[in-house]
Amino acid sequence: MRVLITGAAGFIGSALALRLLARGDQVIGIDSLDTYYQVKLKLDRRDRMIAAGGNRFTFIHQDFSDMAALQDALTGLSFERIVHLGAQAGVRYSIENPHAYVQSNLVGHLNILELARHREIGHTVYASSSSVYGANQKLPFSVDDRTDHPISLYAATKRADELMSESYAHLFRLPLTGLRFFTVYGPWGRPDMALWKFAQNIFAGKPIQVFNHGDMYRDFTHIDDIVAGLVACLDNPPPDDGLEKAGGSTKPHRVYNIGNHRSEHLMKVIGLIEEAAGRKAQLEMLPMQPGDVHRTFADIDAISNDLGYEPTTPIEVGVPGFVNWFRDYHRL
Ligand SMILES: NC(=O)c1ccc[n+]([C@@H]2O[C@H](COP(=O)([O-])OP(=O)(O)OC[C@H]3O[C@@H](n4cnc5c(N)ncnc54)[C@H](O)[C@@H]3O)[C@@H](O)[C@H]2O)c1
Repeated sequence: MRVLITGAAGFIGSALALRLLARGDQVIGIDSLDTYYQVKLKLDRRDRMIAAGGNRFTFIHQDFSDMAALQDALTGLSFERIVHLGAQAGVRYSIENPHAYVQSNLVGHLNILELARHREIGHTVYASSSSVYGANQKLPFSVDDRTDHPISLYAATKRADELMSESYAHLFRLPLTGLRFFTVYGPWGRPDMALWKFAQNIFAGKPIQVFNHGDMYRDFTHIDDIVAGLVACLDNPPPDDGLEKAGGSTKPHRVYNIGNHRSEHLMKVIGLIEEAAGRKAQLEMLPMQPGDVHRTFADIDAISNDLGYEPTTPIEVGVPGFVNWFRDYHRL
């Protein structure tokens, strides 16, 4: 199969590309290599994909929010599937730079939908986020719950992506699957996320910032489980049969949660990092940050029942694995 992956130099995109290349697929990876976090890490991920894929991997350095340039860059290339993972990620940065989110997540998402429409792509899988649940109190979060009270612009753009996708599934019968990821972590992860920042400061002997005084819970999901779920979705396009699907659509459009189905206390995760690093963290206790939520917890019944998704990596295994990778990557 020939698959176009957007955000291919990103954390999730590169991990998915490696999995698809390992099973023999051809991958075209698009990424603008933006400077939201260190470009060196993105280039290292790109080099891994080139080494693994050889001539089955094509990398295109391109901003997909520029439609004309995107079409030019893809001229002469064909693909049967799209996995759209490129986005301006991060909740906190959306308060500082809202326009980056509108450009990449709204204009960019429309461009990918248009590409899928005009190229009659058999299935497009796209990234949404657990942040669409806002400050919902009902736990675990289910794809049947209301998601119309986002508490950050990032969440609002991800919810908008789902709604734009629904309209394209209706108008053009485009098969689409949206995935609400829950706090993804693991090797080759993201430097703007808590686990990375914690590991970095613990190794450097600097204090770590612990928001809401440590009273936070996240459904930490290991990258291997995310990739397994992505592949299961990719291989199972939603049928256009008029029946109601996960997330409530009667169009060929499913929306799934993809989490670990365990809501872990932040202090427990910090303890696991300390143990794996062999050092104690200095804690700087701080209040809740604007846009942040107290707790996330994924109800994964829909994806489990439809596709047999079953996460297999508990944090007791995944967190030490991440810390070991972090140590090796930085030669600490
Ligand atoms: N990692 C998580 O915990 C998490 C949780 C919820 C949702 N998500 C979503 O999953 C997707 C992948 O996340 P990730 O963790 O791999 O993030 P990432 O930042 O590592 O990867 C995104 C990649 O997209 C690229 N990109 C951004 N805007 C672009 C544009 N306009 N054109 C081309 N490339 C562009 C970036 O350069 C980056 O390499 C994103 O849509 C993100 O919002 C991630």
